[in-house]
Amino acid sequence: MEDIFDRLKKTRGPLGKYQEKAEGYFMFPELEGEIAPRMNFLGKEVLTWSLNNYLGLANHPEVRKVDAEAAAKYGMAYPMGARMMSGQTKYHKELEENLASFVCKPSAYLLNYGYQGMVSIIDSLLTRNDVAVYDSESHACILDGLRMHIGKRFVFPHNDMQNLRKQLERAVAIAQKQNGGVLVITEGVFGMAGDLGKLDEIAALKKEFKFRLLVDDAHGFGTMGKTGAGVGEFYGVQDEIDVFFSTFAKSMAGIGAFVAAEKEIIDFLKYNMRSQIFAKSLPMPMVIGALKRLDMLINEPQHKEKLWQITKALQSGLKENGFDIGKTQSPVTPVYFNGTVAQGTNIVVDLRENYNIFCSIVVYPVVPKGVLMLRIIPTAAHSLEDVQYTIEVFSEIKKKLNKGYYDTEVMQNMKVG
Ligand SMILES: Cc1ncc(COP(=O)(O)O)c(C=O)c1O
Repeated sequence: MEDIFDRLKKTRGPLGKYQEKAEGYFMFPELEGEIAPRMNFLGKEVLTWSLNNYLGLANHPEVRKVDAEAAAKYGMAYPMGARMMSGQTKYHKELEENLASFVCKPSAYLLNYGYQGMVSIIDSLLTRNDVAVYDSESHACILDGLRMHIGKRFVFPHNDMQNLRKQLERAVAIAQKQNGGVLVITEGVFGMAGDLGKLDEIAALKKEFKFRLLVDDAHGFGTMGKTGAGVGEFYGVQDEIDVFFSTFAKSMAGIGAFVAAEKEIIDFLKYNMRSQIFAKSLPMPMVIGALKRLDMLINEPQHKEKLWQITKALQSGLKENGFDIGKTQSPVTPVYFNGTVAQGTNIVVDLRENYNIFCSIVVYPVVPKGVLMLRIIPTAAHSLEDVQYTIEVFSEIKKKLNKGYYDTEVMQNMKVG
């Protein structure tokens, strides 16, 4: 028999084992100052490209004012208790009505955090007789929700519609035998590479196969579609999304999330999602703040327009300068390089220390071995000068990489921190 603590101290987990080398710099970095394109990192100003503050609302003076007033009026505690017991307010209900109407669904329900909410949505919707079919690049909240599903589940390779058809044939055959149903789960915008879930093609499959469709549009909400209602709107298939989900953590620059669907389904979720029934209601400042953000998102299209102006300048500039930005169709902008993880860490250090650019790096296993992805998240708060500067720096970085400048010793020559 082993002591559990002994094991944990030894193994430390897939990321924890890098704690000594990476904490405070690559992992758990502290960005200080007001949320803006320029923040402080380890005492100096950096141009930040890694916050999902798409519409630039996080530090908008009107948003800050409403947040502060709501906190002063209600404090952070109100309402006490879970929604079902003692945590209900008219503002929670008003926010739900506004969200539902914005995403063109009859009803909506708030979730305390998107991650927990999604786990519970999947858990509540499915019984052991149902079969889940999901995209291989689904977010952890979808994968973890599926871990709670005791029935069958089939994965299709990312956006592979031919394979999805195969999985649907298997799923439908099993569901028919067990008298269960089929739930297809995918995302609107895939947050790593910025490509879109093929919601139009998936929706078309509904004519042939009987299934319900659950879409996580965390990155599409506020950024995609004519009004910002997401990728369903972008493709003109919003009605085919049976259960729509988004977090407030990105365009809404807040905390919380919501699920929207027909009324009886939302009523079912409201009475069955364990992560909401057994957890405290969203605090009032979050709810009042979300009402304000949603109002701006709907009635001030200039934020989305500015986001796309920056996004287009960034993506076309990168492409014109010979960069591979993959298949993105959204603001999320991956820049791919060939290189080792060691070269990748050196690039990040060089960017932060010598060019004052802060962006995230993604390495194997999220991207194939030998590939590095620098992930740039444009926002409405960035300027065209920020874009221009970043493209120039990236061009220099590419030259240095090709010349072998980032081979392992380089990092030692840089003064980190
Ligand atoms: C696609 C996707 N789904 C769900 C979540 C989880 O949302 P939350 O931060 O509200 O828990 C995230 C990240 O925030 C996400 O990127």
